[in-house]
This record gives sequence, structure tokens and C-alpha cells, in this order.
Amino acid sequence: MQASAQTLSDTGNPSVAAILLGWYDSHARRLPWRRLPGEARQEPYRVWLSEVMLQQTTVAAVGPYYAKFLERWPTVQALAAADDADVMAAWAGLGYYARARNLLACAREVARLGDFPASEAGLRALPGVGDYTAAAVAAIAFGERAVVVDANVERVVARLFAIEAPLPGARPAIRTATATITPDLRAGDFAQGMMDLGATVCTVKAPRCLLCPLRWACAGFALGEPERLPVKAAKKAKPVRQGRAFWIERDEQVWLVQREGKGMLGGMRALPDDGWAARADGHGAPPVDGEWRPGGVVRHSFTHFDLELQLMLCDGGDLTRLPPGEFWPVDAMEQAGLPTVFAKAARLALGNREGA
Ligand code: ADE
Repeated sequence: MQASAQTLSDTGNPSVAAILLGWYDSHARRLPWRRLPGEARQEPYRVWLSEVMLQQTTVAAVGPYYAKFLERWPTVQALAAADDADVMAAWAGLGYYARARNLLACAREVARLGDFPASEAGLRALPGVGDYTAAAVAAIAFGERAVVVDANVERVVARLFAIEAPLPGARPAIRTATATITPDLRAGDFAQGMMDLGATVCTVKAPRCLLCPLRWACAGFALGEPERLPVKAAKKAKPVRQGRAFWIERDEQVWLVQREGKGMLGGMRALPDDGWAARADGHGAPPVDGEWRPGGVVRHSFTHFDLELQLMLCDGGDLTRLPPGEFWPVDAMEQAGLPTVFAKAARLALGNREGA
């Protein structure tokens, strides 16, 4: 049997929201971007920044980035005035770099407007702000009743209502079900309570149902196999792409380029590469004529493909064909703000030098 929103609200029991909020009052995680229940609301800039960072990224990974960004750009106006390259470099390692480009576009629009719009619809109209971020900021920073569904909420709700349809097709049903339990008041605390429940109790594996404040209402628990939910559509195997990255070193410095604006890792500093063999005719030519030798292979997983990147090393040759870029001191690679795949390649190259 599949529980519907109707059966949940018709049980005559206290509401799911009231119970969940009571649980959140005593179990809320202390997170750097969060104000605890009863405290004044967090400012929109901090809520927005954290929510953008937290998409597809764990709480643990976000912590240091959130602190670094706030220290360097304490207000949305400061962020709006930042150099693109500085923001991209500060984002390096967090992944999904379109988020950093959108972050800047959004900060500049907010600075132009004077402040964040105080409604879900107004937030949604900002550049780069999607349904999730608009709802989360509206609920958490402005107290609006908005329906917030991230991956944790998705799991909790799929179990609570025993939604059997596989993801991602089940998303509209999960959203509708979430809407039926979202309260008019404290929607921000409710959303974060659901996230915390998903992160600490209603976990992907081995959910701790005996500790769950919503067990009494949970159709997935009643069915006896909450862990099976949500069902996920079978994933397609990721294709493997091959490419080459070029380490061109002179006088303890290596040549770095700035990647094209909107493409993969766009706007990020990087090693020159060959476009990762999307082409059928094999690898592109190295960017300088010289003595090349292989320096090992870096493997990196992106959302839609896995990459095997052959590192090529060169420390002689003719520099006249170098792509636009700059020489960067090899003892300051950490400050170059390379995205993870190129940071791995740089570590490999430096390991090669030490072993040489
Ligand atoms: N994941 C996304 N947003 C979050 C938040 N505000 N608190 C905890 N985890 C989150």
C-alpha cells in the first residue's frame, strides 16, 4: 500500500511538522552558516552562499570554503566587486564550477538591486538561482513558507510517504508530498530539520528508525523496508574519455592557462590540455615543439564521464606557440586555484621532479 498525503494528514495525530520542529529544537546540528532555533534569522548573504556551496557537496567539504569566502568577501557587495579569477581560484576544489560563475553573476545583480529580494519569486529571478536555492533562501533567511527539497529531504519524504516511483521521475510527487507537510510558520527550521533528519537518522544505508521522531507516521517504516526507498533508476555506465595535459616547465615555473568562459571548468586556471579527445582523430598536438615524455596518468570522475588524463612533461623547446597564459612558480601551486583534476596532475608532475 502506498500512503498518500491524505492518509498522513488524516491520522488525527499531531502534525508531522510540529513533531519534526520539536525534534529540531533539541537536535539541530550546529553548522557555521546556521542560526539555531530561537535565534535571530541568518542574513540572506550567508544563507545564499552556503546553499549554493552545499549543492552536490557535503557539509564537511563546504565548511572551510564557507569560512574562506566570508573572511575574504564578508558582504554581497564585496563579492560583487571581486575579480572573477580570484573567486574562481577560491572555489577551486569544490567542483561544479558553473556554480562559482553563477555566484558572481548573482552577487553583481544583488549589488545592483541594493539587496536580496525578500521573496521566493524574486530570488528565483536572480541569475543562476534555481528552484532549490530560491526556496531555501526564502524559507531560511526570510521565513517564507517555501517548499525546500534537497537530496536528504527527498529521501525522508520518499520513505515517509512510501513513494515507490524511481528517481528522478518521482521528483514531482516528492515535491507535492513535501508541500503537504511544510508548515506556514518556521518553514526554514522545518527544511533544515528535515535535512538534519536525513543526514543523521534517515540515512541512505541502515536508517536509525528507532531514533526517528517521524516513525509513527512513516509508511516506509510500516512496510518494513524503508532502506529500499527511494528507488533509483539504474545508472548508465559512465563513458571514459582520454586526454592529455601538458606540463611545460622553465626556471622553476610552469605554464598555466585560463580555461574558456562557459565550457567544462570554464574560467578556471589550468594546465594546457588537448580537449580530452572528444575528437575521433586522436590527441591534439602539444602546445610547444620540444622533447616530451610521459609523466603518468591522472584519473578523475566528472558527473557524466570518467577522465584518464595522460600527463606529458617538457622542459625544453620552442615557446612561440604557447597558448595565452602565464608562468606560475612551481613552489606556489597551492595558490594557483587549480580545479581538482589539474591539481592532481600538478602533484604528479612535482612527484616526478622529486623522483628524478
Ligand atoms: N544541505 C543543504 N542546505 C543545508 C542546510 N541549510 N543545513 C544542512 N544541510 C544542508
